Amino acid sequence: MKGIILAGGSGTRLYPLTKSISKHLLPLYDKPMIYYPLCTLMEAGIREILIISTEQDLGRYEQLLGDGSTLGISIRYAVQPKPEGIAQAFIIGEAFIRGERTALILGDNLFYGPGFQDPVWNEDDALVFGANVEDPERFGVVGFSSEGHVESIEEKPACPKSDYAVAGLYVYNSDVVEVAKSLRPSRRGELEITDINRFYLQSGELSVRLLGQYDTWMDAGTHESLFKASQFVKTMEETRNVKIGCIEEVAFCKGWITAGELMKLGHPLRNNPYGQYLMRVAGRGSAG
Ligand code: G1P
Repeated sequence: MKGIILAGGSGTRLYPLTKSISKHLLPLYDKPMIYYPLCTLMEAGIREILIISTEQDLGRYEQLLGDGSTLGISIRYAVQPKPEGIAQAFIIGEAFIRGERTALILGDNLFYGPGFQDPVWNEDDALVFGANVEDPERFGVVGFSSEGHVESIEEKPACPKSDYAVAGLYVYNSDVVEVAKSLRPSRRGELEITDINRFYLQSGELSVRLLGQYDTWMDAGTHESLFKASQFVKTMEETRNVKIGCIEEVAFCKGWITAGELMKLGHPLRNNPYGQYLMRVAGRGSAG
């Protein structure tokens, strides 16, 4: 399976924070925001990843993550010239996708919990995740029939039909490229991911998996949600004495890099808690 991280957009909702820094490079507590979605794809066993960003910002992501080889994965990069919608990622990524199943994750989304550790994503033609939220009107919203079947998906409805938002993680079969090409821009001038979901819903191929009781989804696209997500990471890390969103650790746990290689990644950062953590994990690993 292929993975795409969409880290484009102008980030105006976070101005002035994002006036000169790309949103997905902002700190989410102790790591750049993009580490978290990258981790989610890696947890799912995805090793071929495409990062899509603006022309101006792409170099910064390359500087941060390189070609992925130090993590035992492959990372490629592509430009989205204008913020013309999430669904455009599949058109930009066509040559990368090459007829395979693809998971697309938004660069400002944080997923955490048992449902995202070694998840099974290859059983459905199209799979999206529904999360219970306080402010569904900010999102794509799932409507259910009285028997609990998914009946509709609406983008940012004024009167949401439920409290279930569609989270920013989408898994599709290879038809998605053609589906994306068939879309017309919405009123806000974007190719909407919700229209892709509607297509699969109408053809009876869409599964909506509701998040489990211990699963968390947050987006970090506003000042308030960015702060909340940072607080969440800090609390989880402190109370459990682990790191979340730690791409080097996931690479090691998956067996994609050795304890020695993890130690080498930690060593240059040995004077800070992140490097010390990597070295501790590597030490445990090499001890057995
Ligand atoms: C986008 C999608 C929306 C989805 C949300 C998840 O919203 O359009 O359907 O629920 O991501 O974060 P946007 O980032 O455009 O507000």
